[in-house]
Amino acid sequence: MDFKQVRQDFPLLRNDKILYFDSACQSLRPQVVIDKLVEYYTDYPACGGRSMHKLASRVTEEVDKAREEVAGFFNAKKKEEIIFTRNTTEGINLIAQSIGFKSGETLVTSDKEHNSNLIPWQMMVERVGIKHLIISSLSDNTFDLSSFESVLKENKVRLVSIVHTSNLDGVTNPIEQIIKLAHRNNVLVLIDAAQSAGHQKIDVRKIDADFLVCSGHKMLGPSGIGILYGKQKLLEGLQPFLVGGDTVANSTYETHEFLPIPQRFEAGLQDYAGIIGLGEALRYLRNIGMEEIAKKEVELNDYLTTKLTELPQVKIVGPHDAKLRGGIISFYIEKINVHQIALMLSEQNIMVRSGQHCVHSWFNAHHLKGTIRVSFYFYNTVGEIDIFVEKLKKIVDILS
Ligand code: ALA
Repeated sequence: MDFKQVRQDFPLLRNDKILYFDSACQSLRPQVVIDKLVEYYTDYPACGGRSMHKLASRVTEEVDKAREEVAGFFNAKKKEEIIFTRNTTEGINLIAQSIGFKSGETLVTSDKEHNSNLIPWQMMVERVGIKHLIISSLSDNTFDLSSFESVLKENKVRLVSIVHTSNLDGVTNPIEQIIKLAHRNNVLVLIDAAQSAGHQKIDVRKIDADFLVCSGHKMLGPSGIGILYGKQKLLEGLQPFLVGGDTVANSTYETHEFLPIPQRFEAGLQDYAGIIGLGEALRYLRNIGMEEIAKKEVELNDYLTTKLTELPQVKIVGPHDAKLRGGIISFYIEKINVHQIALMLSEQNIMVRSGQHCVHSWFNAHHLKGTIRVSFYFYNTVGEIDIFVEKLKKIVDILS
C-alpha cells in the first residue's frame, strides 16, 4: 500500500498544510465518503423502507448494501445483527436500557472507561440498584486479567462492558481472553470498540463477541452514525427502549407488534446519508487492509515514542512500548498546562487533543489534570512527526 498516495484521497491533507493528530476524536474522511453523502442528497434524498416510489427504493437498497458491508467488515453471521445507532454512546445506552437489568445484578467495567461506558451504568446503579464493579489496571495501565477472573468467580456478574482500545492511552485490552473468561462464567460481554474498530481487524465470530459498539466518525465515516452488533438471539431478547415509526409491523390504539431485528431498534426516520456514507468508509478501509493499517500506526507511534523518550520532561501515560499503544500516545509535561500546549500547536496548524478525554474518572483517581494526546491514522507520516517534535520542543522551552 502506498500510504503517501493515500493522502491525496483526503481533501485536508492534499496540500500538507494541516498536521492532523486527532483521529481518536474524529478521523478525516476520504473524498469517496464525501461524494457518497453528496450522491444521496443530490440523487435520491428520500425516505428508506417506507414509500414505494423509485427514489425511496434506491435508499432502501443503498441502506441494505451498507448494512451488508458493515456485517462483512466485522464478519457478523447475518446483516440483521447490525443495528445503526447515532454513535458508540447510543449503542451502550441502548444495551443498558434494553437488557433488563434487575436490582442486585452485577455489571463489570475497567477503571479506564470513557464517560459513555460509565455514566449509563451509574444511572442503572441509581435507578435500578445494580452493582457496578471496576477492575483496576496494573501499574503500567494494562488490563489485570487475574483480578478480572477473581471478580467473575466471586460475584454473580450479568454483563461485562469493556473498552477494547483505550482512548486515554491507546492500550488494547486482551478481548479474546476477557470474553473466554466471561463466557466460562456465563457472563455476556459488550465491547466498546470506538477506538479499535477502524484500526484493527475485528472478527466478532472469532472472538465470540456478544455485543459490540462503535462510531462511524472514528473510522472515516460521517459523524452522527454508529453501529451496534449483537448476536441474533441476544438482540431478539432485548426490549427496545426507543420506539416509534418503522419499528412495528402493526398497531392498534392499545397494542403493537414489533418488526424483527434490526428494524425494531431503528426508530424514526434514519440518517440515510450517514448509513450509506459509513458503508462507503468501510469499503475504503477494507481495500486498504486492516492489518496494514494497524502495522502503520504502530510504526508511527514507535517513532514518536522514541523521540519523546529523549525529552526528559515528557511523561508518557501507559506502557512505554508503543506496540502496546496502537496509534495513540498520551503524555504530559509537569508544571505546563496541556491546553496551552495544544493551543500553541494549533496556531502552527498541528491538531492534537488535550485534557481528560472524557475519562475524568481515571484522571481524578490519578490526580492528573490532563494529557496531550497524539492519535494517528494511516494517513499520518514520519515527516509530520518530525515537525511536531521540533515545534513541541520550542513550545516547552518557551513555557518552562
Ligand atoms: N471523542 C472522544 C475522544 O476524543 C472519545 O477520545
